Amino acid sequence: MDVLNPEQFRALGYRAIDMIAQQLADLADGPTRRPVPLDVRHSLEDQPIPETGADPFDLLDRVQNEVLAYPMGNPSPRFFAWVNSTPTPIGILGDLFAAAMSPSAAGGDQAATYVERAALTWVKDMLGFPQEAQGLFVSGGSKANLTCLAVMRHVMSEGKVRADGMASIDAPMIVYTSAHGHSCIEKAISALGIGSKNLRIIPVDSQHRMDVEKLREAIAADRAAGLHPVCVAASAGTTNTGAIDQLDVIADLCEAENMWFHIDGAYGGFGILAEQTEGMYKGMNRADSIAVDPHKWLYIPVECGCAIVRHAEAMRATFSLVPAYLQEDRAEPWFSEYGLQQTRGFRALKVWLSIQHYGLDGYRKMITQDINTAYELRRKLFARSDYEVVTAGPLSVTCFRYVPAGVPEEQLDDLQRQIVAWTNASARAFITTTMIDGKTVVRACHVNFRTTSADLDVLLDTLTEAGQLVLQGAQQA
Ligand SMILES: Cc1ncc(COP(=O)(O)O)c(C=O)c1O
Repeated sequence: MDVLNPEQFRALGYRAIDMIAQQLADLADGPTRRPVPLDVRHSLEDQPIPETGADPFDLLDRVQNEVLAYPMGNPSPRFFAWVNSTPTPIGILGDLFAAAMSPSAAGGDQAATYVERAALTWVKDMLGFPQEAQGLFVSGGSKANLTCLAVMRHVMSEGKVRADGMASIDAPMIVYTSAHGHSCIEKAISALGIGSKNLRIIPVDSQHRMDVEKLREAIAADRAAGLHPVCVAASAGTTNTGAIDQLDVIADLCEAENMWFHIDGAYGGFGILAEQTEGMYKGMNRADSIAVDPHKWLYIPVECGCAIVRHAEAMRATFSLVPAYLQEDRAEPWFSEYGLQQTRGFRALKVWLSIQHYGLDGYRKMITQDINTAYELRRKLFARSDYEVVTAGPLSVTCFRYVPAGVPEEQLDDLQRQIVAWTNASARAFITTTMIDGKTVVRACHVNFRTTSADLDVLLDTLTEAGQLVLQGAQQA
């Protein structure tokens, strides 16, 4: 079999790195995200399985023309949608090295084990979390929340569900999150067999944080009904508005109620490093478990989430199962004993490299800058009379509406959706909508150290141009 020899690999690799470097160089002025033309789409998805092999240089041409040319868009400085960051360049190389080594980072005496331990130590330090806690890199925030909540279920059932299943518990478990809690919490609660009907959605207060009085009332009502309140899943940064729940107050409540305190910090956990918000995380270090997403605000290339559980032994008791064929090289517990995956990718390398490259100081500056970018967007919105700011953080999310004079309220929801669709089709910027208090709003999120003030102007000019075109069309029709 003619595999690639080292010299051919070197030539191919240089070309690949040139392609990636050019892509990074083009980010500032290039399109954000373009629709994939039909012929490219067919070429990508309808190709029959190749019977014979192809020239790898031709394959790189295909990657150049058909793959790199049609990205999701998040590396671009004018991508404002969801919570998808621009990747650190050294993190990109980290993924390359990880693929080259292709280890299973399940555990044992190999570099990957020690790199992961170091990276986890730093992540816990960043969050101000005790070092005795056990961390684990997983695919993303959804998996990190699922992993933490699985430990919660194990502990709160006093270990019964692992062998005997949910039928063995005396009363249904009830979990609480806010109306702005991420959908992955409900997914996890369903997947764990707790049941989505047993997830109580607590209303938010005027700052879009979980309303703690309503939470107290809900817990009392459930106890009175003979149910078993087991966990509050609070947010250290909601996706919709960038609100941070009152973590310290919720920690007190969980302590008093003997409930598990879980935090979804997938988006906002690392906001503790920002100058503007560091004081808003009091109580985060009291959580029983926290899910964070280095592939969001540490700008680590996707995929990289992180589950952290205060009681390491509880995490191990939830997942550990070491079959006969895996008994060697076990001077210390393996990472695979703390989660679902056995063979695990070397995700830690890109985290380890990125944290060393920028240092804590660099991360503080980048996250602070993202929040400053949000402040600047708000200032620009205030300066334009045809926009209104609907929510303003405190993290790097701003929700706003385009409200030119004379447009009736009942047309405004549709107008927001249309200007966003037009803007995205223009490839000048990419942004999405969400719902706040029953109204459609435009939502901008910044987890992107490449975004400049000029990029914000492009966004607002494009939305405005779209708005004028949409309104002219509406008048003509
Ligand atoms: C607050 C929050 N939690 C959880 C998630 C899910 O994380 P992931 O998409 O990495 O699975 C997200 C994703 O945006 C999020 O913003």
